[in-house]
Amino acid sequence: MLAEKPSLTITKLTDTIGAEATGVDMRRPLDAETRRALNDAVIDHVVLVIRDQHLTAAEYQAALENFGELMEDQNRRYLADGVPLISVLSNRHKDSQGRPAKQAANASWHTDHTNQERPPKFTSLYPVALPDQGGGTSVCNARAAYEALPDDMRRRIDPMQTANTLISSARAGSDAANPDIVRDQEKAAAARPPMIQPLVRTHPERGTKAIWFHQNKTENIVGMDPEETQAFLTELLEEHVLKPEFIYSHEYRLGDLLLIDNRSALHRAGFDFDHSQHRMLYRGLVRGDKPY
Ligand code: SIN
Repeated sequence: MLAEKPSLTITKLTDTIGAEATGVDMRRPLDAETRRALNDAVIDHVVLVIRDQHLTAAEYQAALENFGELMEDQNRRYLADGVPLISVLSNRHKDSQGRPAKQAANASWHTDHTNQERPPKFTSLYPVALPDQGGGTSVCNARAAYEALPDDMRRRIDPMQTANTLISSARAGSDAANPDIVRDQEKAAAARPPMIQPLVRTHPERGTKAIWFHQNKTENIVGMDPEETQAFLTELLEEHVLKPEFIYSHEYRLGDLLLIDNRSALHRAGFDFDHSQHRMLYRGLVRGDKPY
């Protein structure tokens, strides 16, 4: 008798954010129903971990294509060999001068590629090497944070717009800035104006709203100067967004394929690990719509 195939099961990880999926092998073609169930789970729970996968970089890229068209990571320095739409995040990367590359940019709360017209709808991560402890990824439900705002704050931020660059002048001037990125920004700034994005974004598939920004890419909120902007965004995060009940911190196991719905989330890398150990993740980005 043939063994029965395990079936897809989706289980919530907390009341407000996070779910895990088991019983699916992302190396195999998925039927439309499974694809829809996984896609809906990412959107409904903001972050989904699909457990127990065994993927090469090429198989990971193919697995992500179930969720839409993939887009290039704008940092083209660290790509998986021969798999151009999968980038590699590692604490052992070197910068263009051969020095350890600064990693701290992903360690603050953000959403990806806000300086692009169509930022990724999903960011996916897949661990390849993990430290013994720590080095997870935290995700904040920015939709729940928006919904919990007092009315006057909602009215205040609803019309706000952010002007986004590869790296803001506030960030470029800090010690944590990667000199390669600062150089890229100088070239990019000469080539194009900042990308204007809404601070509160509407989910194109659900109509819900979420607080949505990348502080290190926000040069200013339209009508505010850069210094006032940074202070305002820090206060917004600290007072209204980063509440424990909105946050899920994922501690990876090898085999976890994480998917984050960027339209409802902010995320950050955990730096709470022994940096003599190796942390390496593959990352893939699924193209999104123009935010509104
Ligand atoms: C990211 O910010 O996209 C990466 C997060 C991580 O390294 O955990």
